[in-house]
Amino acid sequence: AIDTRRLRASSGYVAYDQGYGNTGSCESEITYLDGEHGVLRHRGYPIEQLATHSDFVETAYLIIYGELPNVAKRKEFGLRLRKHAAIETQMQKILEGFPTSASPMAMLSAMVSALPAYYPDLATNDFEKDLKNFDRAAAVAISKVRSMVAMIYRYTHGLPYVFPKQDLPFCDNFLHMMFSEPYQEYERLPEVSKALNLLLLLHADHEQNCSTSTVRMVGSSAANLFASMSAGICALSGPLHGGANVAVMQMLQSIHDEGDDGTRFIAAAKSGNKSTRLMGFGHAVYRNFDPRAKIIGEACDTVLKRLGIDDPLLHIAKNLEQAALQDDYFISRKLYPNVDFYSGIIMRAIGIPMDMFTTMFAIGRSPGYIANWKEVASNPKGRIYRPRQVYVGATERNYVPIAERP
Ligand code: ACO
Repeated sequence: AIDTRRLRASSGYVAYDQGYGNTGSCESEITYLDGEHGVLRHRGYPIEQLATHSDFVETAYLIIYGELPNVAKRKEFGLRLRKHAAIETQMQKILEGFPTSASPMAMLSAMVSALPAYYPDLATNDFEKDLKNFDRAAAVAISKVRSMVAMIYRYTHGLPYVFPKQDLPFCDNFLHMMFSEPYQEYERLPEVSKALNLLLLLHADHEQNCSTSTVRMVGSSAANLFASMSAGICALSGPLHGGANVAVMQMLQSIHDEGDDGTRFIAAAKSGNKSTRLMGFGHAVYRNFDPRAKIIGEACDTVLKRLGIDDPLLHIAKNLEQAALQDDYFISRKLYPNVDFYSGIIMRAIGIPMDMFTTMFAIGRSPGYIANWKEVASNPKGRIYRPRQVYVGATERNYVPIAERP
């Protein structure tokens, strides 16, 4: 990598890299991603090991604090999350100001951006002060985003809110808030909670993707954690980022509705036409298997089997994957399944409706946002993110009074 810090501003030198595809915007100790070889590690730990041995809360701790917690620290972190699980009554009113048909992501970003009003001591827009209260702010952010998503689901689906329980682990508490009816317990299957843990863990961080870079960019202006995360959630709402798993499910459903087993669709996907792309395949960075796709693909089989679900969309997905992996078009372009290829099928099995998929991604990505914001806030040599551009507009010209304009 070339360090261009010395070439800044006064030299007149501007490196043009459309969409920053090959620009390192920061130094980071959080996540290592090697797209060529399909490697993903958080704080040095391979994603495969974390997926097998860890859970979402422990991995969140690792990503945020840099080390796996010991028993005492894990307990303390869990207690902090539990303490901040409930959503303030006044905040419900913010939610209820939205029509129930509004986008859940718009509701989520609005609620997160309102957090500084409820926790002014955690969001002073002064790095030094905000870092002193960082542990509490991080717990508020992770725990509330999870509870907000459940509350948004209940609100948009016309259901009464279910409040968190102090004695439930993080993912079980989410399932309780989503699916319990008042006075009637949600029957918690350990498989569902395990699948949810895995899904969130696999989304916990992914280097400088669009929304995480947004968090860093906003944070670089000394904006507080909640403001930065709210901006990240807006970036995540775009269909090219957080919405890709919805596109995969729509594609699988339409293949199913047309009575195709995937064969006809694969042929169409090779046309080079963007509208018939094989959604869930290809990635801006991976030129190999997305390691998360391998894990989630295998988990799909186990989870659906354990839950006794035979989802025809999973069969279609498997057919598509097999066909693509043997097809020269996909092989020569290094197009492999990405995490979105199977994540929707798992969410559907858990009972999460498609309109909530991207909000689930936001819960999962919260630790990554928090850790990246912390890196920005803790960097004594940090500077505001301020990229340049290559100007291609009009050259200098003189002002023309309105009456003289053609
Ligand atoms: N299906 C069919 N052809 C594809 C696909 C696909 N999914 N993806 C890329 N191609 C083809 C392109 O048509 C192009 O072919 P050409 O060389 O003959 O012109 C070639 O592969 C390279 O395509 P690019 O668009 O340059 O690849 P890039 O790396 O820029 O794009 C992207 C990556 C946007 C993810 C793309 O692969 C895609 O659209 N995939 C489907 C959408 C998707 O799954 N997005 C989720 C990404 S993961 C995430 O955001 C969490």
